Amino acid sequence: MKTSQPNLWMGLMDATEPSGMGLRERLCAALRDAIRDGTLKHGARLPATRILAQDLGLSRVTVEAAYAQLEAEGYVMRRIGHGSFVAVQASTALAPVKRSRMTSPLIAQAILSQRGQGMVDTGGCMEPLCLQAFAAGSPDLRAFPHALWRQLTNKRLRQTPEALMRYGDPQGREDLREAIAQYLVSSRGVRCTPGQVLVLTSSQQALQLSSTLLLDPGDRVWVEDPGYRGARTAFAAGGAQLVPLPVDEQGLVPDFTLTAPRLIYLTPTHQYPTGHTLSLQRRLALVDYAKRNGCWIVEDDYDSEFLYDSRPTPSLQGLDDGSRVIYIGTFSKTLYPSLRIAYAVLPEALVQPMVTARNVYDGHVAQLAQAVTADFMAQGHFAAHLRLMRQLYRSRRDLLLELIARGLPWAQPLNCSGGLQLCVSLPQNSELHLARKASEHGIATPSLSALYSGTTANDGWILGFSALQPREIEDAVAALSKLKLPKGASK
Ligand SMILES: Cc1ncc(COP(=O)(O)O)c(C=O)c1O
Repeated sequence: MKTSQPNLWMGLMDATEPSGMGLRERLCAALRDAIRDGTLKHGARLPATRILAQDLGLSRVTVEAAYAQLEAEGYVMRRIGHGSFVAVQASTALAPVKRSRMTSPLIAQAILSQRGQGMVDTGGCMEPLCLQAFAAGSPDLRAFPHALWRQLTNKRLRQTPEALMRYGDPQGREDLREAIAQYLVSSRGVRCTPGQVLVLTSSQQALQLSSTLLLDPGDRVWVEDPGYRGARTAFAAGGAQLVPLPVDEQGLVPDFTLTAPRLIYLTPTHQYPTGHTLSLQRRLALVDYAKRNGCWIVEDDYDSEFLYDSRPTPSLQGLDDGSRVIYIGTFSKTLYPSLRIAYAVLPEALVQPMVTARNVYDGHVAQLAQAVTADFMAQGHFAAHLRLMRQLYRSRRDLLLELIARGLPWAQPLNCSGGLQLCVSLPQNSELHLARKASEHGIATPSLSALYSGTTANDGWILGFSALQPREIEDAVAALSKLKLPKGASK
């Protein structure tokens, strides 16, 4: 079946002029223009992604991503089981400057720098905004100690209201840096002093700063494949050349015969998304290699607090002599994501450059949030909260594994020793079909194949379970168990 307005849809993509835009962005730009100039009217139904993909010769993933982007921007409304519709009325104010439909790349070139365009072309990395089975990676905010947090906040506001309203140290408050350093030394085997800790808004900011400060366009960066999209976007935005390396049961498989990279990005404790731990032998080899070749290693220790069957391996940073590894951690998983506090532990030589660079960007994290987090840690609440959440999430992981074993014979869990999400592999050529069907039941099934950037990709899902109560997990798996594999799926 073809779309009902083939000319309109085919016309959308006839842009042949060279542009720095990816296909998804070109399709988004074309659809935005068509909506804003009234070609697509308020309420009009957009073609199904499969059909538009067929008509335009694009992959369905590209069309799906473009629709999701336009939904996030408010141009399109999507209703499960009904379709996608234009959500805004064209008006003079909305109408684009007169130009042919696909000249938006030219406009973008006129407005954005090459660096800016490169950044936009990465597509960014958006986290889920609401609670939904099985959206990835959120802690359980219903189990957060809200009353205690409120008490600590009120106390700080009563004690030093004015000091908390002033500008703060761009490296972060001393009390928080001390608490973080103490925690990392005792729990993660990190070798550091508070003077090496930089308090940031997110791991993403640490990645972005590393990219800006340490990489020149064209520099090689080794990344895990599959791996974390946020890291890839940060390095690609800086013009780096990403070199995807495979992952096996012992974590990243380094290839020391390749040209040495400028930077190596790793999630060694609990590889994102497969869950494997980097073996000691590879850790030692990588640290030694980085030293001999002058490479930086960025260690993203994003969720090591949540290993359920054993203690986490000590950090890779602890094996270094303090010169090559940048260690990154975040409170997004251990406390809550909108707190916007994360940290980097830096080699001494990088402290001043990084502090100055962060100052160029945004100054510092809100003082009140830092002070309350410091109190929460110093008074022992952080350790207690982690213990409780570990127990809670372990029971949810166990439940999900049991339900998958009983109800989803086509889903094979990979390493499930920890984390807030669980990775399952699926028969090849089934992921997209099953994901579409799952979304008709209101279930998100974040894609594993989308996390590959090399030549091969395995089908699978990354199922976030930590924020879901048992009943929510049971209902969602019951719905998934009714799905049928598509015909072309193969083991
Ligand atoms: C590997 C990895 N690093 C970092 C983060 C996010 O941390 P932040 O919110 O501090 O940017 C995530 C979020 O899912 C992640 O999976």
